[in-house]
Amino acid sequence: LNGMRTKVLGHKVHIYDEVDSTQTIAHQLVASGAPEGTIVLAEKQNAGRGRMGRKWHSPAGKGIWMSLILTPRIPVYFMPQLTLLSAVALCRSIQKVCQVEIGIKWPNDLLIHGKKVSGILLESSGEDERLKYVIAGIGISVNLLDEDYPEELKHIATSLAIESGALVSRERIVQAFLFEFEELYALYLEKGFAPIRLLWEALSVTLKRPIRTNTPTGVIEGIADSLDDSGALTVITPSGEHLKIYSGDIELR
Ligand code: BTN
Repeated sequence: LNGMRTKVLGHKVHIYDEVDSTQTIAHQLVASGAPEGTIVLAEKQNAGRGRMGRKWHSPAGKGIWMSLILTPRIPVYFMPQLTLLSAVALCRSIQKVCQVEIGIKWPNDLLIHGKKVSGILLESSGEDERLKYVIAGIGISVNLLDEDYPEELKHIATSLAIESGALVSRERIVQAFLFEFEELYALYLEKGFAPIRLLWEALSVTLKRPIRTNTPTGVIEGIADSLDDSGALTVITPSGEHLKIYSGDIELR
């Protein structure tokens, strides 16, 4: 990674050919004292993890499979804000490197023409209600072609190469991402979530659209209205009720 423009993030880089999950390696690195900003990259993951217990398709050499170690001393319940911040950083970095129409689906999926191109998984460890550390797992499908996707992903997933019609430099995206992330992270630690929330809202493809989601207490349907201060999604139901969704997945309708 030549030409890094960051102060801290990505100054310690661990690169592997093949791992089960870069998240697992990052947790081990924290245990052996790795500092904030350390990143783990792998060419291939054999057991890439997605949100909600899903698998993440991570074929060799085709994407950015990366984990970033962070140690923000913030309350555990601020974690969703960091997830949204990561999505903003990712969206902005992709926009800077390639010409694609990309937007964020709540909370942190990046979509191009309705198909998922990137996902974020935050795993944390906390004590006394403060976070000890966070591992931000970033998966970006960069140079996968149609034939690299299993049948069941073809209609829901895409890549930067498929959408932009050309192969894209993984190195440029990683550098752009770390640069954007560092800037937003500093802003967040200084000013709180408000400025990040505005940026997220501007990049969202979710707000003002009809959505549907399953919650432990039943299905919620309505219009996604706004983000609240904690990062929860406010939904207005047909009967005019304002409900909040704190976690999980939504379906755009
Ligand atoms: C999701 O959208 O479900 C999140 C996907 C996160 C995938 C990345 S790839 C690098 C890191 N290592 C993993 O095992 N998962 C994350």
